Amino acid sequence: MADTAELRIGDKTLSLEVIEGSEGERAIDIRKLRSETGHISFDPGYGNSGSCRSAVTFIDGEQGILRYRGYPIEQLAEHSSFLEVSYLLIYGELPSAQQLGQFTESIRYHTMIHEDFKSFYSAMPKDAHPMAACAAAVGALGTFYPDSLDPLDPRQVEISVHRLLAKFPTMASYAYKHSIGQPFMYPDNTKDYVGNFLQLMFGTPCEQYEVNPTIEKAIDLLLILHADHEQNCSASTVRLCGSSQVNLFGAISAGINALWGPLHGGANQAVIEMLAAIRDEGLTAKQFVDRAKDRNDTSRLMGFGHRVYRNFDPRMKIIKKACFDVLGQLGVNSKLLEIAVELEEIALNDPYFVERRLYPNVDFYSGVIYTAIGTPDNMFTVMFALGRLPGWIAQWMEMHDDPDFKIGRPRQIYTGATERDYVPVGQR
Ligand code: ACO
Repeated sequence: MADTAELRIGDKTLSLEVIEGSEGERAIDIRKLRSETGHISFDPGYGNSGSCRSAVTFIDGEQGILRYRGYPIEQLAEHSSFLEVSYLLIYGELPSAQQLGQFTESIRYHTMIHEDFKSFYSAMPKDAHPMAACAAAVGALGTFYPDSLDPLDPRQVEISVHRLLAKFPTMASYAYKHSIGQPFMYPDNTKDYVGNFLQLMFGTPCEQYEVNPTIEKAIDLLLILHADHEQNCSASTVRLCGSSQVNLFGAISAGINALWGPLHGGANQAVIEMLAAIRDEGLTAKQFVDRAKDRNDTSRLMGFGHRVYRNFDPRMKIIKKACFDVLGQLGVNSKLLEIAVELEEIALNDPYFVERRLYPNVDFYSGVIYTAIGTPDNMFTVMFALGRLPGWIAQWMEMHDDPDFKIGRPRQIYTGATERDYVPVGQR
Protein backbone atom coordinates (compact mmCIF):
# COMPACT_ATOMS: atom_id res chain seq x y z
CA MET A 1 0.00 0.00 0.00
CA ALA A 2 1.24 3.49 -0.84
CA ASP A 3 2.47 5.71 2.00
CA THR A 4 0.37 8.64 3.07
CA ALA A 5 1.20 11.95 4.70
CA GLU A 6 -1.12 13.55 7.22
CA LEU A 7 -1.75 17.26 7.33
CA ARG A 8 -3.60 18.79 10.25
CA ILE A 9 -5.24 22.19 9.78
CA GLY A 10 -7.39 23.32 12.71
CA ASP A 11 -9.44 20.29 13.69
CA LYS A 12 -9.30 18.72 10.24
CA THR A 13 -6.80 16.02 9.27
CA LEU A 14 -6.18 15.40 5.62
CA SER A 15 -4.58 12.22 4.39
CA LEU A 16 -2.42 12.83 1.33
CA GLU A 17 -1.01 10.15 -0.94
CA VAL A 18 2.77 9.90 -1.31
CA ILE A 19 3.83 9.14 -4.86
CA GLU A 20 7.24 7.83 -5.85
CA GLY A 21 9.25 8.07 -9.06
CA SER A 22 11.36 5.33 -10.62
CA GLU A 23 14.53 6.71 -8.97
CA GLY A 24 12.94 6.94 -5.51
CA GLU A 25 12.07 10.66 -5.49
CA ARG A 26 8.96 11.11 -3.35
CA ALA A 27 6.22 13.71 -3.48
CA ILE A 28 3.12 14.49 -1.44
CA ASP A 29 0.16 14.70 -3.77
CA ILE A 30 -1.70 17.85 -2.73
CA ARG A 31 -4.20 17.98 -5.55
CA LYS A 32 -7.17 17.88 -3.18
CA LEU A 33 -5.62 20.35 -0.70
CA ARG A 34 -7.68 23.39 -1.68
CA SER A 35 -10.95 21.65 -2.30
CA GLU A 36 -10.79 19.88 1.07
CA THR A 37 -9.17 22.53 3.27
CA GLY A 38 -9.55 25.87 1.49
CA HIS A 39 -5.77 26.32 1.69
CA ILE A 40 -3.23 26.42 -1.11
CA SER A 41 0.49 25.63 -1.01
CA PHE A 42 2.97 28.52 -1.14
CA ASP A 43 6.33 27.89 -2.82
CA PRO A 44 7.85 30.90 -4.61
CA GLY A 45 10.46 29.73 -7.13
CA TYR A 46 8.84 26.23 -7.01
CA GLY A 47 11.87 24.72 -5.24
CA ASN A 48 9.61 22.17 -3.52
CA SER A 49 6.92 21.68 -6.12
CA GLY A 50 6.68 18.93 -8.70
CA SER A 51 4.74 20.22 -11.69
CA CYS A 52 4.46 16.93 -13.58
CA ARG A 53 5.54 13.32 -13.86
CA SER A 54 8.25 13.06 -16.49
CA ALA A 55 10.20 10.19 -18.05
CA VAL A 56 12.58 12.38 -20.08
CA THR A 57 15.51 13.39 -17.88
CA PHE A 58 16.71 12.38 -14.44
CA ILE A 59 18.90 14.64 -12.30
CA ASP A 60 20.30 13.91 -8.86
CA GLY A 61 21.69 17.26 -7.83
CA GLU A 62 23.32 15.93 -4.68
CA GLN A 63 25.35 13.32 -6.51
CA GLY A 64 25.85 15.21 -9.78
CA ILE A 65 23.93 12.71 -11.93
CA LEU A 66 22.30 13.59 -15.24
CA ARG A 67 20.64 11.00 -17.49
CA TYR A 68 18.55 11.37 -20.62
CA ARG A 69 15.96 8.57 -20.82
CA GLY A 70 18.14 6.60 -18.39
CA TYR A 71 21.42 6.98 -20.30
CA PRO A 72 24.24 8.73 -18.36
CA ILE A 73 25.29 12.03 -19.89
CA GLU A 74 28.94 10.88 -19.81
CA GLN A 75 28.16 7.92 -22.11
CA LEU A 76 26.08 9.98 -24.50
CA ALA A 77 28.79 12.66 -24.63
CA GLU A 78 31.40 10.06 -25.49
CA HIS A 79 29.53 7.86 -27.94
CA SER A 80 26.46 9.60 -29.34
CA SER A 81 25.69 12.50 -31.65
CA PHE A 82 23.33 15.44 -31.26
CA LEU A 83 20.79 14.09 -33.74
CA GLU A 84 20.81 10.66 -32.11
CA VAL A 85 20.31 12.30 -28.68
CA SER A 86 17.50 14.40 -30.16
CA TYR A 87 15.80 11.23 -31.37
CA LEU A 88 16.29 9.62 -27.96
CA LEU A 89 14.76 12.55 -26.10
CA ILE A 90 11.85 13.02 -28.48
CA TYR A 91 10.89 9.39 -29.14
CA GLY A 92 12.06 7.84 -25.86
CA GLU A 93 14.47 5.19 -27.18
CA LEU A 94 17.78 5.13 -29.01
CA PRO A 95 17.05 4.74 -32.74
CA SER A 96 17.97 1.74 -34.86
CA ALA A 97 20.36 2.52 -37.73
CA GLN A 98 17.36 2.71 -40.07
CA GLN A 99 15.35 5.00 -37.76
CA LEU A 100 18.34 7.31 -37.30
CA GLY A 101 18.90 7.37 -41.07
CA GLN A 102 15.26 8.34 -41.75
CA PHE A 103 15.24 10.96 -39.00
CA THR A 104 18.49 12.50 -40.24
CA GLU A 105 17.19 12.57 -43.82
CA SER A 106 13.98 14.25 -42.76
CA ILE A 107 15.86 16.95 -40.84
CA ARG A 108 18.17 17.44 -43.83
CA TYR A 109 15.18 17.80 -46.15
CA HIS A 110 13.62 20.65 -44.15
CA THR A 111 16.66 22.93 -43.62
CA MET A 112 15.63 25.68 -46.04
CA ILE A 113 13.33 28.49 -44.98
CA HIS A 114 10.78 30.25 -47.17
CA GLU A 115 12.41 32.96 -49.30
CA ASP A 116 9.92 35.54 -48.02
CA PHE A 117 11.10 34.84 -44.50
CA LYS A 118 14.38 36.61 -45.27
CA SER A 119 12.67 40.00 -45.33
CA PHE A 120 11.65 39.35 -41.72
CA TYR A 121 15.30 39.85 -40.71
CA SER A 122 15.81 43.01 -42.72
CA ALA A 123 13.06 44.68 -40.66
CA MET A 124 15.23 44.31 -37.54
CA PRO A 125 17.95 46.71 -36.41
CA LYS A 126 21.50 45.49 -37.05
CA ASP A 127 22.26 45.41 -33.35
CA ALA A 128 19.19 43.31 -32.46
CA HIS A 129 20.16 40.58 -30.02
CA PRO A 130 19.97 37.27 -31.92
CA MET A 131 17.95 35.69 -29.07
CA ALA A 132 15.19 38.25 -29.66
CA ALA A 133 15.40 37.55 -33.39
CA CYS A 134 15.29 33.77 -32.84
CA ALA A 135 12.34 33.90 -30.45
CA ALA A 136 10.44 36.05 -32.96
CA ALA A 137 11.47 33.89 -35.93
CA VAL A 138 10.42 30.63 -34.27
CA GLY A 139 7.05 32.16 -33.36
CA ALA A 140 6.74 33.37 -36.94
CA LEU A 141 7.12 29.82 -38.29
CA GLY A 142 3.49 29.45 -37.31
CA THR A 143 2.58 32.00 -40.00
CA PHE A 144 4.19 29.87 -42.71
CA TYR A 145 2.77 26.51 -41.65
CA PRO A 146 -0.83 27.08 -40.54
CA ASP A 147 -1.66 23.59 -41.82
CA SER A 148 0.41 21.80 -39.18
CA LEU A 149 -0.19 23.64 -35.93
CA ASP A 150 -2.54 21.25 -34.15
CA PRO A 151 -0.71 19.97 -31.04
CA LEU A 152 -3.13 17.06 -30.79
CA ASP A 153 -2.57 15.66 -34.29
CA PRO A 154 0.49 13.33 -34.21
CA ARG A 155 1.29 13.77 -37.93
CA GLN A 156 1.18 17.57 -37.65
CA VAL A 157 3.29 17.44 -34.50
CA GLU A 158 5.90 15.26 -36.18
CA ILE A 159 6.27 17.53 -39.18
CA SER A 160 6.48 20.64 -36.98
CA VAL A 161 9.14 18.98 -34.81
CA HIS A 162 11.26 18.08 -37.85
CA ARG A 163 10.81 21.52 -39.37
CA LEU A 164 11.83 23.25 -36.18
CA LEU A 165 14.97 21.16 -35.63
CA ALA A 166 15.93 21.56 -39.29
CA LYS A 167 15.24 25.26 -39.72
CA PHE A 168 16.51 26.63 -36.42
CA PRO A 169 20.21 26.56 -37.48
CA THR A 170 19.26 28.41 -40.67
CA MET A 171 17.18 31.00 -38.81
CA ALA A 172 19.79 31.48 -36.07
CA SER A 173 22.56 32.03 -38.63
CA TYR A 174 20.41 34.59 -40.49
CA ALA A 175 20.05 36.61 -37.28
CA TYR A 176 23.85 36.68 -37.06
CA LYS A 177 24.47 37.34 -40.77
CA HIS A 178 22.02 40.24 -40.67
CA SER A 179 23.85 41.77 -37.70
CA ILE A 180 27.19 41.79 -39.54
CA GLY A 181 25.81 42.73 -42.96
CA GLN A 182 26.78 39.52 -44.74
CA PRO A 183 24.54 37.69 -47.22
CA PHE A 184 22.46 34.79 -45.95
CA MET A 185 23.84 31.40 -46.90
CA TYR A 186 21.68 28.56 -48.15
CA PRO A 187 21.88 25.35 -46.13
CA ASP A 188 24.33 22.81 -47.51
CA ASN A 189 22.55 19.47 -47.19
CA THR A 190 25.68 17.50 -48.08
CA LYS A 191 27.00 18.44 -44.65
CA ASP A 192 26.04 17.00 -41.28
CA TYR A 193 23.81 18.97 -38.91
CA VAL A 194 26.60 20.84 -37.13
CA GLY A 195 28.78 21.21 -40.24
CA ASN A 196 25.84 22.79 -42.03
CA PHE A 197 25.27 25.18 -39.12
CA LEU A 198 28.95 26.21 -39.17
CA GLN A 199 28.89 26.98 -42.89
CA LEU A 200 25.62 28.92 -42.47
CA MET A 201 27.29 30.99 -39.75
CA PHE A 202 30.83 31.39 -41.01
CA GLY A 203 30.67 30.66 -44.74
CA THR A 204 30.29 33.32 -47.43
CA PRO A 205 29.18 32.93 -51.05
CA CYS A 206 32.69 34.01 -52.14
CA GLU A 207 34.57 30.90 -51.15
CA GLN A 208 34.21 27.25 -50.29
CA TYR A 209 33.74 26.72 -46.54
CA GLU A 210 35.75 23.84 -45.09
CA VAL A 211 34.36 22.49 -41.82
CA ASN A 212 37.05 22.01 -39.18
CA PRO A 213 36.37 18.55 -37.67
CA THR A 214 37.65 19.62 -34.22
CA ILE A 215 35.18 22.48 -34.12
CA GLU A 216 32.35 20.35 -35.52
CA LYS A 217 32.92 17.70 -32.85
CA ALA A 218 33.15 20.28 -30.06
CA ILE A 219 29.86 21.93 -31.05
CA ASP A 220 28.13 18.56 -31.38
CA LEU A 221 29.30 17.73 -27.85
CA LEU A 222 28.07 21.05 -26.46
CA LEU A 223 24.67 20.53 -28.09
CA ILE A 224 24.39 17.05 -26.51
CA LEU A 225 25.25 18.47 -23.08
CA HIS A 226 22.60 21.17 -23.37
CA ALA A 227 19.87 18.95 -24.85
CA ASP A 228 17.62 18.70 -21.79
CA HIS A 229 17.59 19.51 -18.10
CA GLU A 230 14.10 18.57 -16.89
CA GLN A 231 11.82 21.24 -15.37
CA ASN A 232 14.13 24.29 -15.47
CA CYS A 233 12.90 27.83 -16.13
CA SER A 234 12.67 27.55 -19.94
CA ALA A 235 11.30 23.99 -20.05
CA SER A 236 8.66 24.93 -17.50
CA THR A 237 7.88 27.99 -19.62
CA VAL A 238 7.43 25.77 -22.69
CA ARG A 239 5.10 23.53 -20.68
CA LEU A 240 3.13 26.37 -19.11
CA CYS A 241 2.75 28.24 -22.38
CA GLY A 242 2.04 24.96 -24.21
CA SER A 243 -0.60 23.98 -21.68
CA SER A 244 -2.97 26.43 -23.36
CA GLN A 245 -2.62 24.07 -26.35
CA VAL A 246 -0.82 26.68 -28.41
CA ASN A 247 1.18 25.22 -31.30
CA LEU A 248 4.78 24.00 -30.93
CA PHE A 249 6.34 27.13 -32.43
CA GLY A 250 4.50 29.43 -29.99
CA ALA A 251 5.53 27.35 -26.98
CA ILE A 252 9.19 27.09 -28.04
CA SER A 253 9.34 30.80 -28.79
CA ALA A 254 8.31 31.43 -25.17
CA GLY A 255 11.01 29.00 -24.00
CA ILE A 256 13.68 30.84 -26.01
CA ASN A 257 12.77 34.09 -24.28
CA ALA A 258 12.95 32.41 -20.86
CA LEU A 259 16.36 31.00 -21.70
CA TRP A 260 17.70 34.41 -22.68
CA GLY A 261 17.83 35.76 -19.11
CA PRO A 262 21.24 36.03 -17.42
CA LEU A 263 20.15 33.81 -14.52
CA HIS A 264 19.44 31.00 -17.00
CA GLY A 265 20.97 30.42 -20.46
CA GLY A 266 22.10 34.03 -20.81
CA ALA A 267 24.72 33.22 -18.19
CA ASN A 268 27.09 31.84 -20.83
CA GLN A 269 27.34 35.28 -22.46
CA ALA A 270 27.54 36.90 -19.02
CA VAL A 271 30.46 34.62 -18.07
CA ILE A 272 32.56 35.63 -21.04
CA GLU A 273 31.76 39.31 -20.45
CA MET A 274 32.83 38.85 -16.82
CA LEU A 275 36.10 37.16 -17.84
CA ALA A 276 36.81 39.86 -20.43
CA ALA A 277 36.07 42.61 -17.89
CA ILE A 278 38.46 41.05 -15.37
CA ARG A 279 41.14 40.91 -18.08
CA ASP A 280 40.49 44.42 -19.41
CA GLU A 281 40.16 46.13 -16.02
CA GLY A 282 43.31 44.39 -14.81
CA LEU A 283 41.52 42.87 -11.79
CA THR A 284 42.87 39.79 -10.08
CA ALA A 285 40.60 36.76 -9.84
CA LYS A 286 40.64 37.17 -6.07
CA GLN A 287 39.45 40.79 -6.32
CA PHE A 288 36.53 39.73 -8.49
CA VAL A 289 35.56 36.85 -6.19
CA ASP A 290 35.53 39.33 -3.29
CA ARG A 291 33.19 41.56 -5.28
CA ALA A 292 30.88 38.63 -6.04
CA LYS A 293 30.63 37.91 -2.30
CA ASP A 294 29.92 41.50 -1.32
CA ARG A 295 26.23 42.08 -0.65
CA ASN A 296 26.66 45.78 -1.51
CA ASP A 297 27.98 44.92 -4.96
CA THR A 298 25.64 43.61 -7.63
CA SER A 299 28.32 41.38 -9.23
CA ARG A 300 27.78 37.63 -9.05
CA LEU A 301 30.25 35.00 -10.07
CA MET A 302 28.47 34.16 -13.31
CA GLY A 303 28.51 30.48 -14.25
CA PHE A 304 28.51 29.53 -10.57
CA GLY A 305 25.59 28.13 -8.60
CA HIS A 306 22.63 26.04 -9.60
CA ARG A 307 19.19 25.49 -8.15
CA VAL A 308 19.49 21.70 -8.42
CA TYR A 309 23.21 20.81 -8.45
CA ARG A 310 24.53 21.20 -4.92
CA ASN A 311 27.67 19.15 -5.42
CA PHE A 312 28.89 19.51 -8.98
CA ASP A 313 27.38 19.89 -12.42
CA PRO A 314 28.40 16.80 -14.44
CA ARG A 315 28.14 18.77 -17.69
CA MET A 316 30.74 21.23 -16.45
CA LYS A 317 33.31 18.47 -15.94
CA ILE A 318 32.88 17.27 -19.53
CA ILE A 319 32.94 20.81 -20.93
CA LYS A 320 36.04 21.77 -18.95
CA LYS A 321 37.94 18.80 -20.37
CA ALA A 322 36.64 19.55 -23.89
CA CYS A 323 37.74 23.16 -23.43
CA PHE A 324 41.35 22.16 -22.84
CA ASP A 325 41.24 19.56 -25.65
CA VAL A 326 39.74 21.92 -28.23
CA LEU A 327 41.94 24.88 -27.40
CA GLY A 328 44.98 22.57 -27.45
CA GLN A 329 44.03 21.11 -30.84
CA LEU A 330 43.36 24.54 -32.31
CA GLY A 331 46.57 25.91 -30.79
CA VAL A 332 44.68 28.70 -29.01
CA ASN A 333 46.26 30.29 -25.97
CA SER A 334 43.37 31.80 -24.06
CA LYS A 335 43.79 34.38 -21.33
CA LEU A 336 40.06 33.97 -20.63
CA LEU A 337 40.55 30.27 -19.91
CA GLU A 338 43.41 31.10 -17.53
CA ILE A 339 41.19 33.55 -15.64
CA ALA A 340 38.31 31.03 -15.53
CA VAL A 341 40.53 28.32 -14.05
CA GLU A 342 41.85 30.74 -11.46
CA LEU A 343 38.36 31.96 -10.50
CA GLU A 344 37.15 28.39 -10.16
CA GLU A 345 40.04 27.43 -7.92
CA ILE A 346 39.64 30.45 -5.64
CA ALA A 347 35.86 30.09 -5.37
CA LEU A 348 35.96 26.35 -4.68
CA ASN A 349 38.25 27.04 -1.71
CA ASP A 350 36.34 30.04 -0.40
CA PRO A 351 33.98 29.44 2.58
CA TYR A 352 31.30 31.69 1.01
CA PHE A 353 30.95 29.38 -2.00
CA VAL A 354 31.62 26.17 -0.05
CA GLU A 355 28.95 26.91 2.59
CA ARG A 356 26.36 27.85 -0.03
CA ARG A 357 27.33 24.83 -2.12
CA LEU A 358 27.98 26.93 -5.21
CA TYR A 359 29.88 25.10 -7.97
CA PRO A 360 30.66 25.96 -11.56
CA ASN A 361 27.72 25.15 -13.84
CA VAL A 362 27.37 24.24 -17.52
CA ASP A 363 27.89 27.86 -18.58
CA PHE A 364 31.22 28.46 -16.84
CA TYR A 365 33.49 27.03 -19.55
CA SER A 366 31.20 26.76 -22.60
CA GLY A 367 31.75 30.39 -23.61
CA VAL A 368 35.52 29.92 -23.64
CA ILE A 369 35.09 27.22 -26.31
CA TYR A 370 32.62 29.33 -28.30
CA THR A 371 35.02 32.27 -28.22
CA ALA A 372 37.99 30.13 -29.26
CA ILE A 373 36.15 28.94 -32.37
CA GLY A 374 35.13 32.45 -33.38
CA THR A 375 31.52 32.60 -32.15
CA PRO A 376 30.43 36.14 -31.27
CA ASP A 377 29.38 36.58 -27.61
CA ASN A 378 25.76 37.35 -28.38
CA MET A 379 25.36 34.02 -30.20
CA PHE A 380 26.30 31.89 -27.17
CA THR A 381 22.79 31.70 -25.79
CA VAL A 382 21.50 30.92 -29.28
CA MET A 383 23.83 27.90 -29.33
CA PHE A 384 22.32 26.90 -26.01
CA ALA A 385 18.82 27.25 -27.47
CA LEU A 386 19.80 25.13 -30.47
CA GLY A 387 21.00 22.39 -28.13
CA ARG A 388 17.93 22.65 -25.89
CA LEU A 389 15.39 22.28 -28.73
CA PRO A 390 14.98 18.49 -28.44
CA GLY A 391 14.49 18.75 -24.67
CA TRP A 392 11.81 21.43 -24.98
CA ILE A 393 10.12 19.42 -27.73
CA ALA A 394 10.19 16.23 -25.65
CA GLN A 395 8.76 18.03 -22.61
CA TRP A 396 6.02 19.64 -24.72
CA MET A 397 5.06 16.32 -26.34
CA GLU A 398 5.10 14.48 -23.03
CA MET A 399 2.81 17.09 -21.51
CA HIS A 400 0.19 16.48 -24.20
CA ASP A 401 0.30 12.71 -23.61
CA ASP A 402 -0.01 13.06 -19.84
CA PRO A 403 -3.33 11.70 -18.50
CA ASP A 404 -3.11 14.41 -15.78
CA PHE A 405 -2.85 17.15 -18.43
CA LYS A 406 -4.43 20.45 -17.37
CA ILE A 407 -3.87 24.04 -18.35
CA GLY A 408 -1.21 25.48 -16.03
CA ARG A 409 -2.70 28.00 -13.66
CA PRO A 410 -0.92 28.73 -10.34
CA ARG A 411 -2.74 30.55 -7.56
CA GLN A 412 -1.55 33.39 -5.36
CA ILE A 413 -1.80 34.88 -1.89
CA TYR A 414 -3.29 38.30 -2.52
CA THR A 415 -1.62 41.06 -0.46
CA GLY A 416 -3.03 44.18 -2.13
CA ALA A 417 -5.63 46.69 -0.97
CA THR A 418 -8.94 45.36 0.26
CA GLU A 419 -12.14 46.70 -1.34
CA ARG A 420 -12.34 50.49 -1.61
CA ASP A 421 -14.50 52.93 -3.57
CA TYR A 422 -13.39 54.65 -6.76
CA VAL A 423 -12.50 58.33 -6.27
CA PRO A 424 -13.03 60.70 -9.26
CA VAL A 425 -9.78 62.25 -10.49
CA GLY A 426 -10.69 65.79 -9.34
CA GLN A 427 -11.11 64.60 -5.74
CA ARG A 428 -7.78 62.71 -5.43
N1 ACO B 1 27.81 34.39 -7.07
C1 ACO B 1 27.75 34.86 -5.79
N2 ACO B 1 26.79 34.49 -4.92
C2 ACO B 1 25.88 33.59 -5.32
C3 ACO B 1 25.89 33.06 -6.63
C4 ACO B 1 26.90 33.48 -7.52
N3 ACO B 1 26.96 33.02 -8.75
N4 ACO B 1 24.85 32.20 -6.77
C5 ACO B 1 24.21 32.19 -5.59
N5 ACO B 1 24.83 33.04 -4.71
C6 ACO B 1 24.47 33.24 -3.31
C7 ACO B 1 23.23 34.12 -3.17
O1 ACO B 1 23.57 35.49 -3.08
C8 ACO B 1 22.61 33.58 -1.92
O2 ACO B 1 23.35 34.08 -0.85
P1 ACO B 1 22.62 34.39 0.58
O3 ACO B 1 22.12 33.06 1.07
O4 ACO B 1 23.68 35.00 1.43
O5 ACO B 1 21.49 35.33 0.28
C9 ACO B 1 22.89 32.09 -1.98
O6 ACO B 1 24.09 31.97 -2.78
C10 ACO B 1 21.77 31.27 -2.64
O7 ACO B 1 21.52 31.85 -3.92
P2 ACO B 1 20.11 31.86 -4.65
O8 ACO B 1 20.10 32.93 -5.67
O9 ACO B 1 19.02 31.90 -3.61
O10 ACO B 1 20.10 30.42 -5.33
P3 ACO B 1 19.08 29.96 -6.42
O11 ACO B 1 19.06 28.48 -6.36
O12 ACO B 1 17.79 30.68 -6.30
O13 ACO B 1 19.74 30.49 -7.79
C11 ACO B 1 21.16 30.64 -9.66
C12 ACO B 1 20.49 29.72 -8.63
C13 ACO B 1 20.12 31.59 -10.28
C14 ACO B 1 21.74 29.78 -10.77
C15 ACO B 1 22.25 31.47 -8.94
O14 ACO B 1 23.22 30.59 -8.38
C16 ACO B 1 22.95 32.45 -9.89
O15 ACO B 1 22.47 33.57 -10.05
N6 ACO B 1 24.10 32.06 -10.53
C17 ACO B 1 24.77 32.90 -11.47
C18 ACO B 1 24.05 32.87 -12.81
C19 ACO B 1 24.27 31.55 -13.54
O16 ACO B 1 25.38 31.06 -13.66
N7 ACO B 1 23.16 31.01 -14.07
C20 ACO B 1 23.21 29.77 -14.87
C21 ACO B 1 22.56 28.64 -14.13
S1 ACO B 1 22.69 27.16 -15.08
C22 ACO B 1 21.55 27.37 -16.28
O17 ACO B 1 20.55 27.96 -16.14
C23 ACO B 1 21.84 26.77 -17.55
